[in-house]
Amino acid sequence: MYTSNRLPVQSNDPRPEPFKRHQTARYYVHRVHESLKTRVSKFICAIFLGLLLTLGIIAFILWLSLRPHRPRFHIQNFSVPGLGQPNGFENAEIAFNVTIRNANQDIGIYYDSMDGAVYYQDQKIGSKPLLYPFYQKPKNTTIVYDVLSEATLTVNSQSWMQFLNDRNSGTVVFRLEITSTIRFKLFSRQTKHHTMYANCDVPVGPDGFILAISVDKKCPVYFT
Ligand SMILES: *[C@@H]1O[C@H](CO)[C@@H](O)[C@H](O)[C@H]1NC(C)=O
Ligand SMILES: *[C@@H]1O[C@H](CO)[C@@H](O)[C@H](O)[C@H]1NC(C)=O
Ligand SMILES: *[C@@H]1O[C@H](CO)[C@@H](O)[C@H](O)[C@H]1NC(C)=O
Repeated sequence: MYTSNRLPVQSNDPRPEPFKRHQTARYYVHRVHESLKTRVSKFICAIFLGLLLTLGIIAFILWLSLRPHRPRFHIQNFSVPGLGQPNGFENAEIAFNVTIRNANQDIGIYYDSMDGAVYYQDQKIGSKPLLYPFYQKPKNTTIVYDVLSEATLTVNSQSWMQFLNDRNSGTVVFRLEITSTIRFKLFSRQTKHHTMYANCDVPVGPDGFILAISVDKKCPVYFT
């Protein structure tokens, strides 16, 4: 009978074997299925990450090429004629020449206002508006040349004496600060106004001219 010989039969019955094989096969199918699933999801994940990376790189390159570079200021010349004369302050003049380079490939710059001020030991000794509002094309260099005198220059005999003192020891150091309000233009879009400061330290020799080592020196620029 079935039940009576079940136990003895079971002890060496080959039936559990196929059953076990069956289990193992199913187990492997399951494993293969699972690993296929992980492989597919890994593959999709990899594609997704690759896509993300590519988009990131494209965005970075776009940002690099479209991001505005600040204009570059270089002091070309600066002179205080008659620096050696004791009463030179009576008709004192300060002339300067600065180049402004828009190094951007595609971005133009509107200069809505521009002022030049000369400082001596952090005291403003003169200032005036420079140029007219103007637009600077990409890759353009514009020369700013101007002269401060009489009404735009406030040097008295006392400050002139200080210049003479400094001159006797070799150099008189001035600072030219150019303040401008600018907007960047990319295609037909414009940014808001930015206030930009360029500061040129200018050592002047006994002859009243900028020292040769400072000619064409870059002036640091910062925004507020
Ligand atoms: C600076 O300007 C003066 C006269 O304004 C000129 O004699 C001199 O050669 C100029 N220096 C340079 C480096 O251009
Ligand atoms: C200003 O400097 C530039 C560059 O050195 C020069 O080409 C230009 O002639 C100068 N302009 C004046 C007015 O000195
Ligand atoms: C830069 O632009 C100014 C004003 O538009 C122009 O007078 C000057 O010739 C230009 N310079 C160069 C090198 O293109």
